[in-house]
Parts: sequence; structure tokens; C-alpha cells
Amino acid sequence: MVNLSVCLSGVPLKNPVIPASGTFGFGYEFAAWYDLNCLGAISCKGTTEQPRFGNPTPRIAECVGGMLNSVGLQNPGVEAVIQGELPRLRQVYHGPVIANVSGFSVEEYARTCQQLNDHADLLEVNISCPNVHEGGMSFGTSPEAAAAVTHAVKAVTTKPVYLKLTPNVTDITAIAKACADAGADGISLINTLLGMRIDTRRRRPILANQMGGLSGPAVFPVAVRMVWQVYEAVKLPIIGMGGVSTAADVVELMLAGATAVQVGAANLVEPCACRSIIDTLPAQLEALGVKDINELIGGAHHG
Ligand code: SIN
Repeated sequence: MVNLSVCLSGVPLKNPVIPASGTFGFGYEFAAWYDLNCLGAISCKGTTEQPRFGNPTPRIAECVGGMLNSVGLQNPGVEAVIQGELPRLRQVYHGPVIANVSGFSVEEYARTCQQLNDHADLLEVNISCPNVHEGGMSFGTSPEAAAAVTHAVKAVTTKPVYLKLTPNVTDITAIAKACADAGADGISLINTLLGMRIDTRRRRPILANQMGGLSGPAVFPVAVRMVWQVYEAVKLPIIGMGGVSTAADVVELMLAGATAVQVGAANLVEPCACRSIIDTLPAQLEALGVKDINELIGGAHHG
């Protein structure tokens, strides 16, 4: 028997596989496809203080090896999430719930996280959305702003706080270190890479918002590189993500330094992607002679 269980800042996960925020709704929608209780945890749809309609359409552009999205943080707002979405999820899923939070000011991040504190097991603070003109990624591209959000959220919450970082920076380690110094319990990375497609017949950008975030298998090597760098830079647990679609990808990202791994765009291609990865993980580990998945974490840095 291979041990698949891992631990994120005191939160036990039966395995390291987590559907990524924004690709799995509030989870319960996927209960029609499979029993969600096989999952390590669920990272819920990004939540803001106020309801948001999101960006104008088109919001999706397909590309080789992935897709661009410019959703713009569409969500029903924190009150509706607490009253409706999370109770619905808890009816069908009994494992750890990660609340993913976005904001447009330091104070708003803190208020929304404070509201969600008693309704989630872990808070994933998204300072990396590339699709909104204020807030979002602007907090994740400056060490000072990233530290300010971290500090404000930690002051009003008791649950582990993980900052979700953007790859759209020159030096991801500077942002990770700023979050760590401000009291972060962990780091999630990577969010999407800013990209663009043009409709050659119309001679106009495909996305109504012009640019969007690239995700899918094309970004996986970038995720491996950045997880590796952050693992070397800070002594915090890492939730790695970016183009993960197989059990072999989970192993690789854990060897780079991730304690747990989120699966994003793959859920949009195949709704049962996370379950398939979990099902194939034991054989993958046995083939590598691994008895405890924790042996993998950061394993490529040693020796
Ligand atoms: C979006 O809602 O635009 C995507 C969220 C994100 O990339 O953080």
C-alpha cells in the first residue's frame, strides 16, 4: 500500500490532488460525475466581497496546448457563497474546503477572508488574477502590496493562509519571500500567464477584454520552474499548479517542491480528470519505488 496522504499547515488531505479554483465551480456541480470524496481537497470558485458579473464575452480562446480565459472573477459574492454555495458543497463532500478569495483593496481582501474564516479549512488568497483592471494581479506583482494583503488577512483569520501568486513577474521569489515575511502559511502557484489571440479575419483580439490568462499543458514547464524556485527561496508548504493533467505531472511538481497539486484546465477537457489522476497515482508511485508520497516533496533538490 502506498501512502498518498499529505498535510497542508495542519490540514490533512487523503491525497495531494485538488481541483483548482475557477475550473470546478463550488464543487457540488461535479458530484453528478463522480463521488467528490476521493479528492484531497477542493479549491472553490474565486469569491469577492460583492457579486460580480465578470467580463464581457468572448471570455475564452483556445490555443495549442491550452486556453486563454478572461472571466473577470464572476461570482455571486461572499454572502451568497456562505449561505448557498458552501452548504450545497458540504452536502455532498466531507473533505477539506479551500476558499479562494480575490479583492480590490487590502481592506476588502481582509473583510472577505474574515467572513469566510469559519466556513473553510484553508484560505487561498488570489493576488494574481490577470483579468481585472484594478486589484487582482496588481497585488501580486509588488512585494510590498503582497506583504500588505498577507499581513491584513493574517490579522483577522485563524485558518492557514496561502497566497496565490502570478507568474507574470520578473522574480517570483521576491514576492514569495515578502508573503513569507508577512506571515503567510503557504504559497499557491502558478496562476495563468498573460496571453492574447487575434481573429485574423476580423483583425481584432478574440477576447473582448483583449488579453487573458493562459493555462493548460503548455504552461506546465513554467509551473515546474517556479515551484522549484519558490521551494528554494522560502520554507513554506507549496500548492503547485499549472497545466497538470496526469499522475506523472503530480509526481514531477512534487519533486520540484509542491506538497499538494491543483488540477485546473484538465477539468474543463475531462470532468473526471482529478479522479483519473488519483486512480492512477498509486501505480505511478509503485513504478518509481515510492512507498510514501511525502518522499517526493522537494525530492529533486537533494543529492
Ligand atoms: C478570472 O476570473 O478572470 C480568472 C481568475 C484568475 O485567473 O485568478
